[in-house]
Amino acid sequence: MKELIKKLVEAFGPSGCEDEVSAIIRAEIGDKAEVRSDNLGNLIAFKKGTGGGKRIMISAHMDEIGLIVSYVDKKGFARIGSIGGIPIATLTGGRARFADGTVGVLYNEKDAWKGPEALSDCYMDTGATSPEDSPVKVGDVACLHRPFEVLGNRLVSKAMDDRIGCAVALQALLEMPSSPNDLFFVFSTQEEVGCRGAMVAAFGIEPEIGVAVDVTLTGDTPQAKPMSVELGKGPAIKVKDAGMLAHPGVKNWMVATAEKLQIPFQLEVLTGGTTDAYTIQTSRDGVAAGCLSIPTRYVHSPSEMVDYDDVLNSVKLLVGMLETEITI
Ligand code: CO
Ligand code: ZN
Repeated sequence: MKELIKKLVEAFGPSGCEDEVSAIIRAEIGDKAEVRSDNLGNLIAFKKGTGGGKRIMISAHMDEIGLIVSYVDKKGFARIGSIGGIPIATLTGGRARFADGTVGVLYNEKDAWKGPEALSDCYMDTGATSPEDSPVKVGDVACLHRPFEVLGNRLVSKAMDDRIGCAVALQALLEMPSSPNDLFFVFSTQEEVGCRGAMVAAFGIEPEIGVAVDVTLTGDTPQAKPMSVELGKGPAIKVKDAGMLAHPGVKNWMVATAEKLQIPFQLEVLTGGTTDAYTIQTSRDGVAAGCLSIPTRYVHSPSEMVDYDDVLNSVKLLVGMLETEITI
């Protein structure tokens, strides 16, 4: 599965620019499901059930955090805004990449040794010397630029959030045996700017159950905020985050499946951040929703890290959940 992950994480796809990721996923699905896109760019792959099951929407977001050019000054330096939440301390000395391959160096005009305090302290150097010869213009969008790395059993990338969720959902779709449930695999857009893709997809699909597949934070690094999730201890089953209380029936279904299949798992209570499950849950007259989380270190930095066994176990858990009849 590492090849698939590499292809997905290295693709360009800040919020609103998910076409490259969408094309990769569409090609991988081939004729394994009925695939369509909606007006917000969500890619929706439908696998009809054998009958007697539920309508289930699975959502993994294709977009990643990014930067947007807000101004190019007289000397050709670009000023930048953010697309989604970027920890500014991770930018100085890093690089960003535009859709056409243009690369810019990110730096900090305040004090390089202390790090920027705000994004307005940062600029991007694209090699230009004036606005006229700048390869980037106002409104151009970039992703962080770092190669995919395999470090032992750990995988590192600029966009584990949430291409790893896309990889898990896609792999589950490809491996899915026949299921009584009507399955809508949504590869959603614009999660990082407010879960907007999943919002409209859920409205259109009208699922009975929603499951987001996304990353969550861990509490296993030096001086991390106390949190029970660790890398390598199995997929995390969300109980609560800042935007959603998981439906107890959905949470219990996930736990029961993990126990039945003897897949290691962890329960997750996340104090900041949310996922597509939030907007799925609150669409129309409400949807029973939950989230399968892949434990991830350094979320929203250019080096997000996951454990490969957690990834494989997440696929197993998702397939196990979706292939059976569910009573929640
Ligand atoms: Co995110
Ligand atoms: Zn995410």
